[in-house]
Amino acid sequence: MMAHIHKAYDHHHWLFMLIFLVLSYVASSSDPTEAATLLKFKSSLLNATALDNWTNATPPCNGTDNWAGLYCDHDDNVFGLNLSKMGLRGIIDIDALLNLSGLKTVSVMNNSFDGPIPSVNKLSSLVSFYLSYNNFSGEIPEDFFVGMNSLKKIYLDGNEFTGKIPKSLAALTKIVELDIRGNQFSGKLPKFSQNPKAWKTMNVSYNRLEGRIPASLRNSDPSAFLGNLDLCGKPLAACKSSKKKLLLIIAVTVISVAVILFIAACLERRRSAQSKQVTRVQDKLGAHHDTGAMEVQLAAEEENNNFHNNAERGGGGGGGELYFVQQDRNFELEELLRAPAEVLGSGSFGSSYKAGILSGSVVVKKFRQMNQVRKDEFYDHMRRLGRLSHPNLLPLIAFYYRKEEKLLVHAFVANGSLASHLHVKREPGQPGLDWATRLMIIKGVARGLAYLYREFPGLTVPHGHLKSSNVLLDNNFNPLLAEYALIPLINRDHAQKFMVAFKSPEFYHTERTLKKTDVWSLGILILEMLTGKFPANYLQPGKRANADLAAWVNSVVREEWTGEVFDKDMKGTKNGEGEMLKLLKIGMCCCESNVEGRWDWREVVDKIEQLKERDTDEDYSSYASDGDAYSSRVISEDDLSFSVTA
Ligand SMILES: *[C@@H]1O[C@H](CO)[C@@H](O)[C@H](O)[C@H]1NC(C)=O
Ligand SMILES: *[C@@H]1O[C@H](CO)[C@@H](O)[C@H](O)[C@H]1NC(C)=O
Ligand SMILES: *[C@@H]1O[C@H](CO)[C@@H](O)[C@H](O)[C@H]1NC(C)=O
Ligand SMILES: *[C@@H]1O[C@H](CO)[C@@H](O)[C@H](O)[C@H]1NC(C)=O
Ligand SMILES: *[C@@H]1O[C@H](CO)[C@@H](O)[C@H](O)[C@H]1NC(C)=O
Ligand SMILES: *[C@@H]1O[C@H](CO)[C@@H](O)[C@H](O)[C@H]1NC(C)=O
Ligand SMILES: *[C@@H]1O[C@H](CO)[C@@H](O)[C@H](O)[C@H]1NC(C)=O
Ligand SMILES: *[C@@H]1O[C@H](CO)[C@@H](O)[C@H](O)[C@H]1NC(C)=O
Repeated sequence: MMAHIHKAYDHHHWLFMLIFLVLSYVASSSDPTEAATLLKFKSSLLNATALDNWTNATPPCNGTDNWAGLYCDHDDNVFGLNLSKMGLRGIIDIDALLNLSGLKTVSVMNNSFDGPIPSVNKLSSLVSFYLSYNNFSGEIPEDFFVGMNSLKKIYLDGNEFTGKIPKSLAALTKIVELDIRGNQFSGKLPKFSQNPKAWKTMNVSYNRLEGRIPASLRNSDPSAFLGNLDLCGKPLAACKSSKKKLLLIIAVTVISVAVILFIAACLERRRSAQSKQVTRVQDKLGAHHDTGAMEVQLAAEEENNNFHNNAERGGGGGGGELYFVQQDRNFELEELLRAPAEVLGSGSFGSSYKAGILSGSVVVKKFRQMNQVRKDEFYDHMRRLGRLSHPNLLPLIAFYYRKEEKLLVHAFVANGSLASHLHVKREPGQPGLDWATRLMIIKGVARGLAYLYREFPGLTVPHGHLKSSNVLLDNNFNPLLAEYALIPLINRDHAQKFMVAFKSPEFYHTERTLKKTDVWSLGILILEMLTGKFPANYLQPGKRANADLAAWVNSVVREEWTGEVFDKDMKGTKNGEGEMLKLLKIGMCCCESNVEGRWDWREVVDKIEQLKERDTDEDYSSYASDGDAYSSRVISEDDLSFSVTA
């Protein structure tokens, strides 16, 4: 009897298992996160009109009717992205693609992407990738291809890559197609590791390569090596390695070395004579830091091997250590300390310096007003900041801890801040930010802020210091939020004096900040962007909030109701006035001093995402027909259904 029951149970057990398997198969084949992942990926692209049918209206894979550019398998899982020739720009958010576990091939050929090679190497099961005919540039790190063991096809042709062909590429064993023609690769051709007979395509023409062609490529078509500096050996002409030439090389080398030594000696003498005038980061740390810098150097020497990867180090001493939170932006501490430094300015927390190091410029920001947090708390928080990754956040590269003073190291963003673009006088003839750009910027800011809200559910005010000078712009005017999530570290009294969150009406009235406080800061930023007016009274450092938001808003909007509300520099947009007006409304709703009436961040972000560059709604068509409407139109108060009451 027992056995019988047992058997019946077993039977059912198998049935359940079967149902479970079928269900989970069904679930995985119409995976809703696949759509979310792709939409996130799309969100950092610019000019993505070719991807207009990437929307939640249809699933990404649906038989033959897939979203544009997707390759799907029989189970409706995405295995490839072919975004060729779509006029795309912006950021290729590889991190977003990590969720597409079945991804085998990615093509972004013939678009307008630029910057360093995207980190496709994080997609370790990739079989092929095509970056051809964009404007990617810079060196590819030596170890870039490590771990990409499935890779068969690499297309980098028609870009601006420089430096050597990475050793890790040559070490791949399955490569059958390699096209790097039309770049600026230099140095020698490496020895490739795969079977030489396996090549289907191999073309390194029109680079700056030189030296002997390795034996494994001797059977290639000679045209694969055209247009380089000085390649020789089979299948091209033999290398000239006569004794004469060797002697010549030795002679030239000896003479060059002598000349270099002589120049170096001269320079060294001159430098030591002028050493007082040379400014270095080390000097910027202040005279009393000599010991600190020494400690840093010692720490660096001790941990030379796993320096950037260092685990928690106990002990509460006040000594300094440079700690890298980003593994790919690694440089020697010594390099940083010795680097020529340029003062960028002093903000509300302390001074910033720009330091030029080999791998690019970084900004070192000095904070003195962070000495009330414990070391472990500081480290924990920094590590959390280091884990953040979003196309609209300025990433933290490294930090340095001393009891009295902290340094945060970020990348240098050459295009300056939104504030400088809005308010600094331009050269005559240089255009102001147009509406399309401002819209793109505010969307980016909203996305960055939304990301912070999601990543820091425990922080009341996840940004805390959102203002136009903390919105940096990259060369494509993609905004990067800076100085975020620092409220837990800054000394309370200092924070209350200087940080934007503490200028909010709720802090003025109740001495408390709220979840909606950053929304208020966003609102001020929106009004500032639309009107081009700096909220001077309101955000003045050191000044206690005067709760006179209504006065500022009135000064920029209400009193000029009938006049030119929008920034005159925001030219070049026809038929966008209705959308501008919508953004103005959003800004006003964010600035609502009555917190209950103020929108929640999700609502604001949603509303901002819905904005378009041009008016489409019928209710604005009357504006659209009026060419130069926005500077002359009378805005009715009905257009703005909100109240601003202090
Ligand atoms: C990606 O996957 C992780 C967990 O695997 C999940 O937490 C995250 O929400 C996913 N992202 C998207 C955009 O679906
Ligand atoms: C998916 O395709 C089927 C036909 O293959 C069609 O009936 C269905 O409407 C499509 N679903 C969507 C959401 O487009
Ligand atoms: C999306 O656009 C592509 C290319 O225009 C087209 O092939 C595809 O059928 C469209 N898919 C949907 C779901 O509309
Ligand atoms: C991507 O699609 C284009 C056509 O739009 C085609 O010419 C190209 O071969 C495809 N590339 C890959 C890698 O599949
Ligand atoms: C935007 O994309 C379209 C194709 O979708 C292309 O024709 C146009 O040149 C692109 N514009 C820019 C500024 O890249
Ligand atoms: C990409 O551009 C190159 C150079 O302009 C052209 O030869 C090639 O056919 C284009 N490829 C695609 C898929 O459009
Ligand atoms: C490519 O980038 C370089 C700078 O890296 C720039 O000078 C050049 O104008 C860019 N070319 C195109 C076609 O965008
Ligand atoms: C290599 O590319 C060049 C153009 O850059 C072309 O002329 C040549 O025929 C190609 N050779 C091979 C073997 O693909």
